[in-house]
Amino acid sequence: MRQIWELFPKICERVEKSHKDVGLVGAHDIVHAVRVVQVAYQLSLDEYGEYTAMLAGLAGLFHNADRIFEKKFGLTRNDEIAEDQIRGLVSGWIGENLSSDEKERIICAVLCHRNKNGENDDAVLICLMDADRVVNLAVDFPIRCGQEFSNLLAVDYGNFLGKNLKESYWHPKSVLGIVSLVLEWADPATNVCVRTRLGKKMAEKRAKIIRDFFANLDNQIEEENMLDYSFPR
Ligand SMILES: [Fe+2]
Repeated sequence: MRQIWELFPKICERVEKSHKDVGLVGAHDIVHAVRVVQVAYQLSLDEYGEYTAMLAGLAGLFHNADRIFEKKFGLTRNDEIAEDQIRGLVSGWIGENLSSDEKERIICAVLCHRNKNGENDDAVLICLMDADRVVNLAVDFPIRCGQEFSNLLAVDYGNFLGKNLKESYWHPKSVLGIVSLVLEWADPATNVCVRTRLGKKMAEKRAKIIRDFFANLDNQIEEENMLDYSFPR
């Protein structure tokens, strides 16, 4: 299997440089983007074939475009970034390498990858969404999340112990609360669950580890005899 960075070395160079130019390090760095490339490629190859896998891999490579603008202009993830800016950046990365139809499928995937699942989602978008979710279900997510949201309470113990924690992604209270949200990506009852067959397998395996992590923390706090403590809220 040829790697995206072997197929499109110039594109990869341009994307890496954009991350470097704005100092995009941490949770959504170039390593995260490349991990999403690799997973998007595999999910897509398994379900849609090599051509779509190439487009989905490239979409994975470009999917930090919004984060680059956030970093460049000191924005938060609640700030809107103009579609034209994302389009311009991604088009510049692609250069003359692809047809206008291929370019459009990739740009649409990049623009929509943080949405909820849609009935008419294109295969490239589905694979990008699934890959981003699968990568963010990995065991290093709590660490990345703690780094990204270092201003938040690490664990809202008072609302966590023995309960099904529910946090708002857009207005979270604790780092662990955000971590709990990723479990929705492996839950078929939600409209953000992964959809590809390989993605489902990977997500379920990873979600089990996150669920165990939560159960273990619950047990460890109990073991420390902390259940009667009035935790700060
Ligand atoms: Fe991502």
